[in-house]
Amino acid sequence: MSEPSRRGASPRVRRRRALVAAGGLLVIVLLAAAAIHGLTGRDATLAAPGHRTSSSGPSTAATEPPRPSPSATPVAAPAPTFDREAHSIDDPNSIWVVVDKLRPLTPTDYIPNDLVEVPVAFANPPALRHEASGAVVALFAAFTAETGLALQSQSAYRSFEAQTRVYNGDIATLGQTGADLSTARPGTSEHQTGLTIDISAQPGQCSLSACFGDTPHGQWLAVNAWRFGFLLRYPADKVEITGYEFEPWHFRYIGIPLATEMHDTGVSTLEEFFGLPAAPSYG
Ligand code: DAL
Ligand code: ZN
Repeated sequence: MSEPSRRGASPRVRRRRALVAAGGLLVIVLLAAAAIHGLTGRDATLAAPGHRTSSSGPSTAATEPPRPSPSATPVAAPAPTFDREAHSIDDPNSIWVVVDKLRPLTPTDYIPNDLVEVPVAFANPPALRHEASGAVVALFAAFTAETGLALQSQSAYRSFEAQTRVYNGDIATLGQTGADLSTARPGTSEHQTGLTIDISAQPGQCSLSACFGDTPHGQWLAVNAWRFGFLLRYPADKVEITGYEFEPWHFRYIGIPLATEMHDTGVSTLEEFFGLPAAPSYG
């Protein structure tokens, strides 16, 4: 037995064995540390923004209150506002021209340059500005289609001279005060704009009288004229503003946009709509 038994190993041999065991343990510890470091480093990379995995814990989206996406809440479009300055109220050629006892036509002998014969039934041959004529044709056709009844033109464009004759006739029969409640003085009549028509029933019934407002014709016109761009210009309850008694037959063309706006807002006179002074008299 050349090699000594374990039990009988010398101190030198035991020291060498202890060093070998310690070295082995150190290698195992280092390997384990390296393995743990590698895993930790990989987790840190996976956990970077944009690389979150389902195994890395609750996400931010799950813990924060949900935010609405930009398109989730529809933004209400602003209500379209009516442009009250789209047309002049002073220019006699404007379909919005406002003519009353305080606002004479300028010039007072104004004559429209696009007058046409209006192709509808009439008591007196009617002329109007081209656009207003087309609107009257549409209005009359719709009235007949919807009621089975018929309308006719009583009076449409009137020149300064024609208005003078009508006004002087009223002076003779009604006197000055009565005439001024019924007929405009020459140069201040809407009829001279070529945008206005007096409408009566066909056959005639209450023509140019307040009772026209009680006929099916007058009632339909009062309700529907706005659809065709017309305004019942002298309502019964606005005599102090317009300066004229109720005229359920007198319709002024102002175009469909303005007629619709006035209808929808419930404003019944041009003076009120445009913020103009009441015109009960010539001042
Ligand atoms: N009858 C209306 C007021 C005019 O003469 O114009
Ligand atoms: Zn009239």
